[in-house]
Amino acid sequence: MGGGHVIPLTLAQIAGITGGRLRGDPAAVVTGEVVIDSRRAAPGGLFAAVAGERADGHDFASAAVAAGAVAVLATRPVPVPSVLAPSILVGDVPAALAALARFVVDALPAVAIAGITGSSGKTTTKDLAAQLTERLGPTIAPAGSLNNEFGYPLTVLRADASTRYLVLELAARGPGHIAYLCRIAPPRYGVVLNVGHAHAGEFGGLDQVARAKGELVEALPADGVAILNADDPRVLAMAARTAARVVTFGVPDRPASIRGALIQAADVRLDDLGRPGFTLLTPEGQAPVTLRLHGAHIVPNALAAAALARELGLGLAEIAGGLSAAVARSRWRMEVHRRGDGVTVINDAYNANPESVRAALDALRHLAQDGRGFAILGHMAELGAISRASHEDIGEFAARAGLAGLIAVGEEAAPILAGARRVRSWTGEALALPDGAAALDAVANQLKPGDVVLVKASRAAHLEGVAMALEEGTDR
Ligand SMILES: Nc1ncnc2c1ncn2[C@@H]1O[C@H](COP(=O)(O)OP(=O)(O)OP(=O)(O)O)[C@@H](O)[C@H]1O
Ligand SMILES: [Mg+2]
Repeated sequence: MGGGHVIPLTLAQIAGITGGRLRGDPAAVVTGEVVIDSRRAAPGGLFAAVAGERADGHDFASAAVAAGAVAVLATRPVPVPSVLAPSILVGDVPAALAALARFVVDALPAVAIAGITGSSGKTTTKDLAAQLTERLGPTIAPAGSLNNEFGYPLTVLRADASTRYLVLELAARGPGHIAYLCRIAPPRYGVVLNVGHAHAGEFGGLDQVARAKGELVEALPADGVAILNADDPRVLAMAARTAARVVTFGVPDRPASIRGALIQAADVRLDDLGRPGFTLLTPEGQAPVTLRLHGAHIVPNALAAAALARELGLGLAEIAGGLSAAVARSRWRMEVHRRGDGVTVINDAYNANPESVRAALDALRHLAQDGRGFAILGHMAELGAISRASHEDIGEFAARAGLAGLIAVGEEAAPILAGARRVRSWTGEALALPDGAAALDAVANQLKPGDVVLVKASRAAHLEGVAMALEEGTDR
């Protein structure tokens, strides 16, 4: 993505910044990336040992050192064969990463920091926005979805003196999370996409989700810019919670929209693969955009990216051209694959929540206009008390979309079928199956040219393998 080779730091500096205890050569210099995955360790880098749910990074420290890591940031001494690895011992590794990232931010005052949050579409928008800011100057943006207390500082730590733009993704699983990230690297530009049901179970409801997402605009300085979705009332209401100037984006012909968003899309239409085209309306004029990403739900994300790039000084023609040239950089989000035999597979297996499943089903319905539509749906995780009802509602929505087949994978997804049965007029086939392999068996052999299959679920369901097998057309 251009730019960024980290700011070199001695072990003495790192110990000073993190308040850690150094064991090793104080003059040794970290010149490479900070990583928490030992498989990504490379010469010159720093390995941060964090304890995850399944593994403890301390167990992989020796592998990281063998791969060339200069030192290990850890909470306890890490033995490597015959010697102790050079280490900086701290009480709390995420806090140490935060301190290091904050040091880098303070050392790079010329970097414009943009933060993107929302319930759905952060990564998509971040990838679009980065492909616009790259036209302005060297940009650092995370690969994929590095949006939490680990990924956020690790991304910031990739910046160096050549970096001009940091395009960051901020996630919240509870109150205070986004405020915490904003203290590590305070955005001057804050984008809020939407308030939806992702993790709603953990929050307690949409108003609590809105409180948490709004921490981003609360953290913006008075000379910052809050970029808000005018079509989402909970997002638009965040205008009252920020000292920053407010810029809005919206798609005016949507039912919930208010007129007059600064950045708008008009004449939205989808091509036969569901890729949106629209006219981008800005105060400077209008320009045609044809996206290479799939689904009408991408349009607000593209508008958000456009609004951000415009604030950073990119001209209208460059914005429209950049959006039209932008490709999907992160995998398994609405990947549309047309097989040689005329079957189309939509791999949207990266994650799922009620809004993104509806968006994907809308796209499926559009693509399947001339054929049959099948949906293989796993569960939507972390919905808490509304889980069952949400799955039923998705089933009803899917049945109304007139699918030929609806397959619910796993026990938690089974209520989808109960919801589908509420639609008496629906004549499609409904199946509840225990796992992805069974779903693949049920669908793969009956596909015909013109058919379209959507595969979507929360991460935990791991349905991407099903999607990839369908893409290959492996007739198992
Ligand atoms: N504006 C939107 N409305 C509804 N669904 C969307 C929107 N934008 C993207 N999606 C869908 O949401 C899913 C996740 O997209 P993406 O990875 O961009 O979101 P995210 O907010 O980064 O998710 P995560 O919380 O996992 O990081 C994909 O299925 C995508 O198609
Ligand atoms: Mg993401």
